[in-house]
Amino acid sequence: MDGNDSGLTSLSATVRQFLSQPKKALINGKWQAAQAGQTFEVLNPATGEVIARVADCQKADVDQAVQAARKAFDGGPWRRMSPADRGKILWKIGDLIQANLEDLAQIESLDNGKPIAVARAADVVLAADLFRYMAGWATKIEGESISLSVPYTPDAEYHAYTRKEPIGVVAQIIPWNFPLLMAAWKLGPVLATGCTVVLKVAEETPLSGLRLAEICQEAGLPDGVLNLLTGFGESCGAPLAAHPLVDKVAFTGSTEVGKLIVRAAANDLKKVTLELGGKSPNIILNDADLDIAIPGAASAIFFNHGQTCCAGSRLFVQDKVYDKVVEGISKIAQEIKIGPGLDPTTQMGPLVSQVQLDRVSSFLRSGEEQGARATCGGKRNGDKGYFVQPTVLVDTHEQMRVYQEEIFGPVLVAMPFKDVDDELIRRANDSVYGLAAGVFSSNLSSAHRLAARLRAGTVWVNCYNIFDAALPFGGYKQSGWGREMGHEVLKNYLETKSVCMSV
Ligand code: NAI
Ligand code: MG
Repeated sequence: MDGNDSGLTSLSATVRQFLSQPKKALINGKWQAAQAGQTFEVLNPATGEVIARVADCQKADVDQAVQAARKAFDGGPWRRMSPADRGKILWKIGDLIQANLEDLAQIESLDNGKPIAVARAADVVLAADLFRYMAGWATKIEGESISLSVPYTPDAEYHAYTRKEPIGVVAQIIPWNFPLLMAAWKLGPVLATGCTVVLKVAEETPLSGLRLAEICQEAGLPDGVLNLLTGFGESCGAPLAAHPLVDKVAFTGSTEVGKLIVRAAANDLKKVTLELGGKSPNIILNDADLDIAIPGAASAIFFNHGQTCCAGSRLFVQDKVYDKVVEGISKIAQEIKIGPGLDPTTQMGPLVSQVQLDRVSSFLRSGEEQGARATCGGKRNGDKGYFVQPTVLVDTHEQMRVYQEEIFGPVLVAMPFKDVDDELIRRANDSVYGLAAGVFSSNLSSAHRLAARLRAGTVWVNCYNIFDAALPFGGYKQSGWGREMGHEVLKNYLETKSVCMSV
């Protein structure tokens, strides 16, 4: 690969063409510039150079998009379409994602910085799979028939049933760490249930969402059902979350902004679901198979450069194997090949932005100031692009910022422990977050006992970061409200109506 172009020469002709065209917002089936005419730059995180310009959508664009979604929900063909036809469109979106796998992987890798091999094998494939899984649910949304025994009308008879109805117009706001996959997690269920949507993609990584919206049009999604906005949090996301014609807000991102979303939605008591941050404990017991546990713990934190809400960022290792585990993970960290995402040999790309580089660097400084020691890494990598060395911090304690706060970078905080029942459970659960946890052990009873006592929405045993469209994902405590994926996610977008008829 040419070191000067950070892989740009490897882009396909269709991706080049996609990048060269003006990037607009999708409103009511039409691609249009922001009303104020403004645009903003999209940067390549491997170099800091401009790769595209997109519409800087603001309040007026939000209003237009919400009106379009409202009209498409209240009166459009979408509500009259049979569930089977909705399901066919969803399946087709999945097929088209698969057919465009290489282009989508290139766009994702260029925009976000993640290794192209990972974008191909994980992000794009999981996105296609999610739409196909949700296609099946479109025809399986069912109410119940319920027998009543109303005590104050003992002689009357009733026919009563529930209907599951789409909640209406949904505002969805997503982050930049898995741009395509987060769009899929959000859009799949919303379309399966028959809602309409205004999706705001992250300002750092708008490109794969724009391509996905083209694919949705190509698959036959009626105008106005999906409206896609590119814009910033305060000027686009905030008016979207507060818009009076929106029935429900679904947000993925920081816990801080999640709280702002709740406040914005409070005015008219919109329904809200949130998928937020984490500081997930990953636990290795003395009896663990270290050939599984060491690479497992390394990938739990280093996957996606640690920019993963469920990253296994607090590592608790039982005393007898602590030194060996820290040594093993540090060795893996030192061997990770850092480079631009588009380089096919890259194992870890840049962080997404200068802001995230600054944020992670400040955590590394604070760790050092508070007495933590890096057994590997600990610094920015190079001086171009937003690269950080994979880092393992030891000599850490519970008062440190690096222990308590979500770093969202490739930085692991390792700690030894002795006793599971009295000590480990308390320490592992001692966090405002509760998104995920990992347990590595060869003892089935210990693993299941721990899985039951960890306050987290997902517990992985002898594995980590395993996702499937069928498996619910979401957080306890300040990691969120509600679940993504599985049939559980359908609840996020359905209202239950009870119908009671005297017969
Ligand atoms: P963020 O929460 O600010 O951004 C996520 C999305 O929310 C973006 O689309 C953004 O435009 C939008 N947004 C921002 N402010 C908003 C507002 N007032 N109203 C409505 N929408 C708004 O996250 P950011 O700033 O990119 O990253 C900050 C930290 O958040 C990271 O360091 C990480 O710790 C955490 N984070 C967690 C994620 C997760 O998956 N749980 C994803 C991204 C970030
Ligand atoms: Mg922010």
